[in-house]
Amino acid sequence: MVNNVQNPSVCVFDSGIGGISLLFECVRKLPRVDFTYFADNFRVPYGNLSREELICRVDEVFEEIAKTNPAAAVVACNTVTAQCIDFLRNKYEFPILGIQPAVKPAVECGGKCLVLATPSTVKSEAFKNLLEKYSASKTRVVACEKLAYYIEQNILNLSKEGVESLLPKYGADTVVLGCTHYVLAEKIIQSYYNCPVFDGISGTADHLKEVLGIFDHHGQRAQKIAFSGGDTYKNRKVFNNLLRSEEVLNP
Ligand code: DGL
Repeated sequence: MVNNVQNPSVCVFDSGIGGISLLFECVRKLPRVDFTYFADNFRVPYGNLSREELICRVDEVFEEIAKTNPAAAVVACNTVTAQCIDFLRNKYEFPILGIQPAVKPAVECGGKCLVLATPSTVKSEAFKNLLEKYSASKTRVVACEKLAYYIEQNILNLSKEGVESLLPKYGADTVVLGCTHYVLAEKIIQSYYNCPVFDGISGTADHLKEVLGIFDHHGQRAQKIAFSGGDTYKNRKVFNNLLRSEEVLNP
């Protein structure tokens, strides 16, 4: 347990704003842990890159993350998790958690499952193994070429029509948001398909609690939430908007 000792510090990383959805959930579930959000916004999208290209970019960021001596790092990017989490875990000594498309709970609901993810995630061995593991034979997988970039560029003024124009036109009984950027447009996507949507956000935040060994953290929000790399102004604003929308829902 970390009560009464110095607060642990955790780094969360994504190409751009998408991982702020996961940062927000981690901050809610671990109100006394300090967080630093690392992003590479000016080089989004990562979702069209090969494993080698991803490793080059991500390793640059992880060199910076390692200097902060974190208690753990969270890769809040399905693409990087699918393509290079093994590389990162082999190279760095601190615990590194990842996020995967929530195929299991969606498939368990039965019916037609539609998985939306980046081209690089869809091509990865890790994703193919995930589909096989949950015998997702009825699953339709669509690699969305432009959706993450659209959300990254337009987050502060997201248009329903803009997001919908980039969604595949299929019917579905469940939809998996296999990219953290899509989670920021969840309401639009959910109302377009009119069915339950799934993502790995909550499960990954719970996993972080387990890794840190924290089960009884009640109290205020994280003492420090910092933003490093990329467009820190935009990242902070997206985070503050999520905070505000939660305060409106839970005054
Ligand atoms: N947010 C990332 C993911 O979860 C990728 C977005 C991008 O293409 O940069 O896959």
